[in-house]
Amino acid sequence: MKPISLTGIKPTGNPHIGNYFGMYKPAIALTEKYLGLYFVADFHALTSTPNRKDLQTLIYEVAAGWLALGLDPDQSVFFRQSDVPEIPECAWMLSCLTSKGLMNRAHAYKAAVDKNLEAERDPDDGINMGLYNYPVLMAADILLYESDVVPVGLDQKQHIEIARDIAESFNRTYGKTLKLPEGLYTKDLQDVPGIDGRKMSKSYGNTIPIFADEKTMRKQVMRIVTDSRTPEEPKDPANDNLFQIFRLFAAPERAEEVRQLYLTGGLGYGTLKQELAETILAYFADARQKFSFYTQNTTLLDEILARGAEKARDIAIPVLKRMRKATGIDR
Ligand code: ADP
Ligand code: TRP
Repeated sequence: MKPISLTGIKPTGNPHIGNYFGMYKPAIALTEKYLGLYFVADFHALTSTPNRKDLQTLIYEVAAGWLALGLDPDQSVFFRQSDVPEIPECAWMLSCLTSKGLMNRAHAYKAAVDKNLEAERDPDDGINMGLYNYPVLMAADILLYESDVVPVGLDQKQHIEIARDIAESFNRTYGKTLKLPEGLYTKDLQDVPGIDGRKMSKSYGNTIPIFADEKTMRKQVMRIVTDSRTPEEPKDPANDNLFQIFRLFAAPERAEEVRQLYLTGGLGYGTLKQELAETILAYFADARQKFSFYTQNTTLLDEILARGAEKARDIAIPVLKRMRKATGIDR
């Protein structure tokens, strides 16, 4: 049996090319060595009480994005967090082994408290118990499937460590029941630069979204910031984010040709942007088609996710049984 790799994705907005190279592509590649579990973390999304319609759209878009970008639901376990009723039960048991002090130190909670203090409000103003318990629910996601590795961005490192702490506390109290997971940090990869040269991120508004309409894609590519050298002037490929983005997509021979043209001069930024737009559209042509297919066939998505949930529950149920026994809830 293959070891288990698990990752959850909160349904928040359009994936961009930074997410693709930093997360989707490496996470999907793991399915060669691991049994990959991928889920839409819809319960986690509730901590920010999104509008119900937006949430439903985003859940389908995230699911469609994974399938469009190459996740094979027959070779992996692809599901919705909320389709596994064992999760909240597991989270409750884990919460009884989690010290409150550990949650007080969680980054997301601390950041919310700091923001309140800065604004001279009550420290817990506007903070719900979902946000406070977020790390316990995430520990349940990880521990209930006996995950060996959890591929995530470095920003999730504390959550993985909390999951390990909770598992250790459970095992210390009730005897060895839960497996300790390892984080697999995808951030070792270089960040993909955004159109303004900073790290590409939704929060900076500098992304090239993979599934936006063609016009928006082209517009974003044309907005990539460069210096003002003329086509004839030699340019610096190592310090130009247009070239850095281009080389992610171009065939290696073409990337080398363009690099030479940068050094000798003779290629204008505008011309290269046009080529980049075409290259990106061609690169994701198949994915974009699949994305629109799935978002228009949400019944099919529901079926795929429901099948995934069955497979996920096959793994989760025996572990939960063990936990119930260990705690004394079951004889
Ligand atoms: P954003 O910064 O756009 O909100 P998220 O925080 O939702 O992106 O990140 C989702 C995943 O994509 C994470 O695993 C993160 O490490 C990866 N990621 C995000 N931006 C980049 C980038 N510019 N380059 C490489 N990986 C990225
Ligand atoms: N907290 C993660 C994020 O914000 C999403 C997530 C929920 C997750 N449960 C998980 C990631 C379990 C890995 C494993 O990105």
